[in-house]
Amino acid sequence: MSDLQRSSEFDVQEFLTNYWQQKPLLIKQFYSHFHDPVSAEELAGLACEEAVESRLISCYGRSTSGATAAWQLRHGPFSEADFLATPEADWTLLVQAVDQWQEAVHQMLEAFDFLPRWRIDDIMISYATPGGGVGPHFDYYDVFLVQGAGRRRWRLGQRCDAQTATVERAGQAILPDFEVTADYELEPGDALYVPAGVAHWGECTTSGLCYSVGLRAPSEAEMIAGVSDLLVDSSDPARRYQDPATSQPPAHSGEIMASATDGLQQTLSERLSDPLWLKQWFGMAVTQPRYPELLEPLEQPVEFPALLALVKEQPLTRHPASRMAFTYLPAADQVLLFVDGECFALPAAELQLARELCQPSLGNLADLLPQVKSPGAQQLLAHLVSSGSLYLGDEER
Ligand code: SIN
Ligand code: CO
Repeated sequence: MSDLQRSSEFDVQEFLTNYWQQKPLLIKQFYSHFHDPVSAEELAGLACEEAVESRLISCYGRSTSGATAAWQLRHGPFSEADFLATPEADWTLLVQAVDQWQEAVHQMLEAFDFLPRWRIDDIMISYATPGGGVGPHFDYYDVFLVQGAGRRRWRLGQRCDAQTATVERAGQAILPDFEVTADYELEPGDALYVPAGVAHWGECTTSGLCYSVGLRAPSEAEMIAGVSDLLVDSSDPARRYQDPATSQPPAHSGEIMASATDGLQQTLSERLSDPLWLKQWFGMAVTQPRYPELLEPLEQPVEFPALLALVKEQPLTRHPASRMAFTYLPAADQVLLFVDGECFALPAAELQLARELCQPSLGNLADLLPQVKSPGAQQLLAHLVSSGSLYLGDEER
């Protein structure tokens, strides 16, 4: 359990009713007694690793003349020498998905238990020096900006969409016209909730860290493509176009009569209107791991009876890179369990197992395991350990 606790002053109901997905909110002391779960040095160390996504955005020449300032973007991995060569001010280092690399950062997410865990994408951390920041922009997803050590000035702006004018600068789509609607200075432990599409602009006042808790929101195009893929995979090649019943030869040989496509329209609509496809695709999409390569399968797969014995000695833990969610389908007497982009159907009797597997902490799972009776669920549990989504051992392995 994390020692970073959400303040009891934060009113979840009030937030969900009046702000969530509607309007921004500055939450003073969202975390009470905040302390950084990662240091600036550790963050720089992560940015030197090959497998970690990081970028450095620097602005040159601002101190001499704002008009001639030039922005530069560099992607990691970096070396120690890169950091030694950075100036005093006007740069920021951004490291993606630190929650997947550092357990203490991962545990910051416990404070967000007022949202479904599958909605949360990752925690990006930025370290910025005075004047450093990515610039005025908007994101297509909601974000909570949590201030760590140091102070950062955040300005909020207008609502934006795909039609809003942007210019490219250091790899970021920047808003040339930023209309300030609010101006805050965040202190350690404060959080600023920014709904998708709301312009924001962070500028560091004293060097420090900012944790961006980003939400996952598939686009309409992803939904259409994803559901179509499932339909394609499950379609029967024998089901093909068939002519409508007729006793007349065509009047004009090249004409496609309306009657030729009426039946197709109906077939397509029927296939698309089955809600199961959407539920399946959605569960698979929101549990897609960001870095599947972090999930290392066991060299020797484990069987369920051996697993039952092992959990008596060691706790079962979910790999921080693994994502799980479930959907209960009472009409089908089934539970769909989604693990790392895959879908597994279980009998409804295993609903409690699905719930426990998807809890942020798996503390109750060991007690539940001996009650898991369906062979499918037993195999699945052994599979999840064998594939690396779950592992035996505690969080700080
Ligand atoms: C930052 O941490 O500087 C950028 C975060 C964001 O704007 O989403
Ligand atoms: Co942003």
